[in-house]
Amino acid sequence: MKKLYGVMGDPISHSMSPVMMNDLFDLYEMDAAYVPFHVTSDGLETAVKGLKAIGVAGFNVTVPHKTDIMPLLDEIDPLAKAIGAVNTVKNQEGKLIGYNTDGRGYVRGLKEEIPSLSGQTVLMIGAGGAARGIYFSMAEAGVKRIDICNRTPAKAVELMKTCPFPVETEVFTIEKAEERLEQYDLLIQTTLIGMAPNIEEAPLSLKGIKPASFASDIIYNPLETKFLKEASSAGARTQNGIEMFVYQGALAFEIWTGLFPDTERMKENVLKQLG
Ligand code: ATR
Repeated sequence: MKKLYGVMGDPISHSMSPVMMNDLFDLYEMDAAYVPFHVTSDGLETAVKGLKAIGVAGFNVTVPHKTDIMPLLDEIDPLAKAIGAVNTVKNQEGKLIGYNTDGRGYVRGLKEEIPSLSGQTVLMIGAGGAARGIYFSMAEAGVKRIDICNRTPAKAVELMKTCPFPVETEVFTIEKAEERLEQYDLLIQTTLIGMAPNIEEAPLSLKGIKPASFASDIIYNPLETKFLKEASSAGARTQNGIEMFVYQGALAFEIWTGLFPDTERMKENVLKQLG
């Protein structure tokens, strides 16, 4: 019988996951379909029960449900529990199990450019939902140090305290970070500042960045944010959010099917969708 997968969110029509995942099911000749589910916050509980009742094989979860879905699932993987958000659900013999592949997806994508992360001194900008998974997975990957700057430093302190992997961290304001940029090998931009249509915005000025550093932005629309443009003109290497998107999807696909898919093909597919 055909297996049903999907992605639930609000809004959802812009999601690139259905085309990317259906292409993988075709490629590996799997009898499965991946569908966008428009689910509002009011409808979340009913939607989860309904999907369970019809025997959904698995689904992704996106904004705004990543945290609210947790009490509605049967089990939560320890990493997802620590992060406090679920982006992937697998139906394991009738039990819905929640996982989070965002942070590990980010790290897998980054390793395409920086194969060994140990020894890296990192600055993460932002302390929101996306930042949590990234911080935890970077700590797990064994970087030397991750400092966090955020408009509200208290939120970054909270994030740091809940991380299950030990890593050296200092928290400060964005202004302070701007003065210290030359200390970092890697800058990770995790806020939504600079995302279309606000393409003229950046969370901080990169005037002090050292040319040998690497700048990474989780945004992929536009492909080159103001943050990445500034980094690039200072001589730094850059990576946009496509890899994180592709690898979080690849890890979800692996959780569902046991197969780690062709990420080059996924990337081409996503770039085609972005036009
Ligand atoms: P997400 O779950 O997508 O990461 P979020 O939890 O709302 O979104 O977090 C957004 C991040 O962007 C936070 O780090 C937020 O800073 P605060 O913790 O101070 O709220 C940051 N952010 C959002 N708008 C901002 C702005 N105008 N200036 C600076 N930082 C901003």
